[in-house]
Amino acid sequence: MEFVELSGKQAAQRPEALALAQDAPWGQGWPPGPEHRVLADRDWSWLAAWHPLAFDSEVFGLSLGQVSALLHRAPWPEPGSLERGAVFMKRLADDARRAGLAGLFARVAEKDFLAAQALEAAGAKLVDASVVWEAELAQGLVAPAAPEGFLVRPAAEGDAPALIALAANAFCDLEAYADRFALDPRLRHACGELYGRWMANSLSGQQADMVLTLAEGDKPVGFITLKRAKGGEPGWVALNAVSPDKRGLGLYNMLLAHGLAWLAGQGASSAKVRTKFSQRAVIRAWSRLGARPLAGDFTFHLWLDEL
Ligand SMILES: CC(C)(COP(=O)(O)OP(=O)(O)OC[C@H]1O[C@@H](n2cnc3c(N)ncnc32)[C@H](O)[C@@H]1OP(=O)(O)O)[C@@H](O)C(=O)NCCC(=O)NCCS
Repeated sequence: MEFVELSGKQAAQRPEALALAQDAPWGQGWPPGPEHRVLADRDWSWLAAWHPLAFDSEVFGLSLGQVSALLHRAPWPEPGSLERGAVFMKRLADDARRAGLAGLFARVAEKDFLAAQALEAAGAKLVDASVVWEAELAQGLVAPAAPEGFLVRPAAEGDAPALIALAANAFCDLEAYADRFALDPRLRHACGELYGRWMANSLSGQQADMVLTLAEGDKPVGFITLKRAKGGEPGWVALNAVSPDKRGLGLYNMLLAHGLAWLAGQGASSAKVRTKFSQRAVIRAWSRLGARPLAGDFTFHLWLDEL
């Protein structure tokens, strides 16, 4: 197999790359950013765009990158297509390692078993299986009242330490959520730090338009972070959790209804959430509100310095 290396800007101008992007059965992420690095084979049957991740690298103290597009022409993992895919993926790993990366993250669509198996052949490990859910939002949606002793309200400044601790615990606890950063032994040490910073950035308005706190008395015991709909797109529920000792009481059903009512009040006609297949409480609560599943995906971690 021979290879072509391009910048994202160059690749976006190549008709062969565009043709592959149009033909690729499960491809996502085209076109790449102008500074992304692009690797393709000379037959234009495989193409990957990737780039370093500054924030993740800083948090985890490791040089990390992400594959932003992974395109291939063959649909399924037959022996020939998988062999080519494995060769391509090994070369991609070599390129990223030579560029100084220790680890590379890659996400593939739910039916893209060829890319998934090619990644496995290069040494990548499956760390996440998720699905996006979408709910239509009626205008004038009214959320049910919180049970006695509880209140849902916009996060107050004093909630920050409790919400940061709650986020770090909820997502990094292997029994509760098992986020990919907790699942991967090389990243686990800073999973809490990443979620804590994500929550802090949500409270500052950088990564959320609203954070609602579920409080028992004065004490935060849950949260939902929301991004309002922009340009006709759906609104998003980004982070949401209930404290371990308050789970199973129906509080998430109620908190979610408040979050969706806020999004609807801000003009969203639908809302999305991305959650793991394993989070049945989330899926049940969204289904109860009439939500439907959209696309699923699988995420892999490839440790280049272990190959
Ligand atoms: C997911 C989470 C927010 C649910 O909160 P909760 O207050 O316990 O949820 P609820 O009590 O409102 O239950 C919601 C639905 O799930 C069901 N449920 C609750 N826990 C469940 C479990 N472990 N497995 C299956 N179903 C469950 C409930 O019966 C309810 O369904 P129903 O309305 O049909 O009866 C909470 O478990 C949590 O914080 N988990 C860790 C972080 C996380 O996963 N966040 C979501 C990321 S998208």
